Amino acid sequence: MSGYAVDAAIAAGAGYTIVENASLEGRNSFRVKARAHLLVDIHDDDALAEVFAFRGLHTQPVLVLGEGSNLLFAGDWPGIVLVMTTRGIKVVESTPASDRVRVAAGENWNDFVHWSLVQGYAGLENLTLIPGSVGAAPIQNIGAYGVEVGEHVASVRAWDRHERQHVTLTHAECAFAYRDSLFKREPDRWLVTAVDFNLPREAAPRIDYAGIADELAALGGTVTPARIAEAVARLRTRKLPNPAVIGNAGSFFKNPLVDAETAAMLRTLHPALPTWPAGERVKLSAAWLIEAAGLKGWRDGHAGVSDLHALVLVNHGSASGADVWRVARHVIDRVRHRFGVELEPEPRIVPQAATLA
Ligand code: EPU
Repeated sequence: MSGYAVDAAIAAGAGYTIVENASLEGRNSFRVKARAHLLVDIHDDDALAEVFAFRGLHTQPVLVLGEGSNLLFAGDWPGIVLVMTTRGIKVVESTPASDRVRVAAGENWNDFVHWSLVQGYAGLENLTLIPGSVGAAPIQNIGAYGVEVGEHVASVRAWDRHERQHVTLTHAECAFAYRDSLFKREPDRWLVTAVDFNLPREAAPRIDYAGIADELAALGGTVTPARIAEAVARLRTRKLPNPAVIGNAGSFFKNPLVDAETAAMLRTLHPALPTWPAGERVKLSAAWLIEAAGLKGWRDGHAGVSDLHALVLVNHGSASGADVWRVARHVIDRVRHRFGVELEPEPRIVPQAATLA
């Protein structure tokens, strides 16, 4: 028990509820304690216009939260935390080769991946078991095992807070990049309400990422999207700590991108460092750098680096968000000192990291 006062709804209209001084402990996968001045759950897209029209509401900072699996509350949120809890999956266009499927922001990502496989669609199997909501998926362009969600996003429906209207952004307008998109770059403007996916019926298996082929061979049988999903689920379960058991937000650091010259120098000094080509640049394995800096499994009180995967920071019990952030800064400092490489957090740190340094 948190010992907090019971949160009670102070307002409820058609399609939303508002709670004052709300606990966020059960709303973030790190399971750290934090509070929001106001917590607004939106059950219907149409309620957004009404909620944002409330006097005083649009003057407060707004944080849009999905399932809280890709952020760290390093402190309380001084304004409004808004959560899309809308549901629904529907086929909006059908061709012999593929369907366009519209999914509400509040649907759980992994449930949707599972649904797509049961319906006989291909394309999302490598993204199985990623925590979080469908609405959050395009924001940081979630990716795993050689596939990024942006490849399958046809368009995104969003509430534009500047213009106070619902808009549809094309794939190109979303400007997807490695763990990045328009929505991540302009968090104060966009609120994702639904995502349209182009889902092919014909499988084009992507199994070249390290480990997948071996896992498939161990499973035996023919390679189908469902089999690939099973192989990915096995790899993830083995390699990544389960947020239901130990608080975490998946990869805490992005794999750093460096220029070719820097990568060549680092490879000469450290031949075992895994690298991947990324356009003009080279992507380095952040997990390898952290482990080589001697930090895998390192802990400071209840916060630490996972002993299963060096990219994941964990809450062993009652760590605060500030404790986790202190560990993150220690990791960043050590890797910079040892390798001259700057690590960047992948999850959002709220309130802003700059104010906490
Ligand atoms: N490695 C280590 N120590 C470790 C773990 C990994 O040295 O403790 C090295 C290994 O050599 C391995 C390499 O790092 O070959 C890469 O590891 P892994 O395949 O686990 O992938 P990653 O680069 O650490 C990225 C994504 C993950 C995604 C996996 C699989 C980022 C920041 N992370 O991790 O995404 O699941 O690839 O595709 O891009 C997430 O974003 O939350 C996430 C889990």
